[in-house]
Amino acid sequence: MAGPLEDELGDILEKARDGKSWSQEDLSQASGVAEKDIQAMENYELVPDETTVLKLAEVLDLDGPSLMAISRDAYCPQAVAGDPDFELVTLEVLLGSYPVKCYLLRCKQSGESCAIDTGANPKALIQKAKETGMTPSKILLTHTHYDHAGGLDALVKEWKCPTWVDKNEPRPKGYGKLNLIGEGDVIELGALRIHCISTPGHTPGGVSYKVNQTVFSGDIIFAGSMGRANSTWSGLFAGITQKILTLPDATILHPGHGPSTTVGEEKQNNPFFCGKV
Ligand SMILES: [Fe+2]
Repeated sequence: MAGPLEDELGDILEKARDGKSWSQEDLSQASGVAEKDIQAMENYELVPDETTVLKLAEVLDLDGPSLMAISRDAYCPQAVAGDPDFELVTLEVLLGSYPVKCYLLRCKQSGESCAIDTGANPKALIQKAKETGMTPSKILLTHTHYDHAGGLDALVKEWKCPTWVDKNEPRPKGYGKLNLIGEGDVIELGALRIHCISTPGHTPGGVSYKVNQTVFSGDIIFAGSMGRANSTWSGLFAGITQKILTLPDATILHPGHGPSTTVGEEKQNNPFFCGKV
């Protein structure tokens, strides 16, 4: 099951406003939509009619039909395929009531495995690794927000393995041996080569990990939306459009929240990027 999208219409409007440094009042003035209605949409209390969605999309530089589809819960990416060279276990864990994804990946040829992000839930990850017969030799972090790096100390203690994180990212709590990475670096996992793609913007040192035609993208892009630009909106947008959505359409994206998707799906259905790549 793909599960619900990470972002609804209200989240997308807020993130698109952020890209323009607009307040709700600014958006109201630009679009002619009442400010109280914009506030209600962003609070998930109002689903506007089609004319209003298209008006908002136009002034926010979003793709109208894609935004319309998401406002009607009509976009769900197709299930993605696996890769012949590795086994992938996807864990969706809860941080309070908030679902977070983390991953266990095992090279089929060598049996060597790694964890990608922690889900702030080391118990679940340790349990799943045991069940599947994995003892990860590496922990790769896409970024160090608590929901992706919390509980690192317990994993390091259990697996006695080093951690990888981008050199520009705030250091995570509880790491043992830390390996700092940057754009173009390659991490070997048995016969697999994991390519580091620097994608800052959500955080100062966000990184995506690419293995064959599969990318673990953290919180930079979601099916139908983009991450929150806690660091720089323009940097985040540029990273996605220049480094991720320029990969072949069949490239699989496994994000930190929401369903997995592909480059092709997001080029066609993501209101931020449709028609821009
Ligand atoms: Fe994050």
